[in-house]
Amino acid sequence: MDIGCGLGCFSIGLAKMVGEKGRVRSVDLQKGMLDRLMKRAEKANVADIIETHQCFVDKIGIEEKLDFALAFWMIHETPDALDFLKQIHSLLKPDGILFLSEPRMHTSKECFDKVIADAQKTGFQIIKRPGIIMSKTVVLSKKKIRSCDE
Ligand SMILES: C[S@@+](CC[C@H](N)C(=O)[O-])C[C@H]1O[C@@H](n2cnc3c(N)ncnc32)[C@H](O)[C@@H]1O
Repeated sequence: MDIGCGLGCFSIGLAKMVGEKGRVRSVDLQKGMLDRLMKRAEKANVADIIETHQCFVDKIGIEEKLDFALAFWMIHETPDALDFLKQIHSLLKPDGILFLSEPRMHTSKECFDKVIADAQKTGFQIIKRPGIIMSKTVVLSKKKIRSCDE
């Protein structure tokens, strides 16, 4: 799932990664974003792999279980990050992974630490803190996995 997918730069990349046997759920509040994403997906020849879903501001509202969730530069736009993280946690499979990144320019260290604390409260474990340009990023798993850095 690419939650808060916007125009879908990452959804299209994810669709190429999972290939024809995989599925990408692209979720956003804005129908306009989802429509534009699908036009781009058609051009990139991955439209059959991507399924869009228009969510509510406080409810993701999908049911299938996920291997992986990407929340790129969107958690700061949600009304209640803790509740949002709980929803993502419940959608992931037991060994599911959440890649969470926030824009450095809008996110103080305190704010990002609070997001991580909320994720841990929800039951996520930190497995990596990758460096992503202009971002503060954490990779989280539902179960404890040894980090590549350990
Ligand atoms: C800054 S854009 C990031 C788009 C995309 N993830 C990227 O990095 O290119 C934030 C996106 O999150 C969406 N968004 C904001 N609040 C949301 C919510 N509560 N649930 C789902 N999507 C949300 C917005 O509609 C917007 O498309």
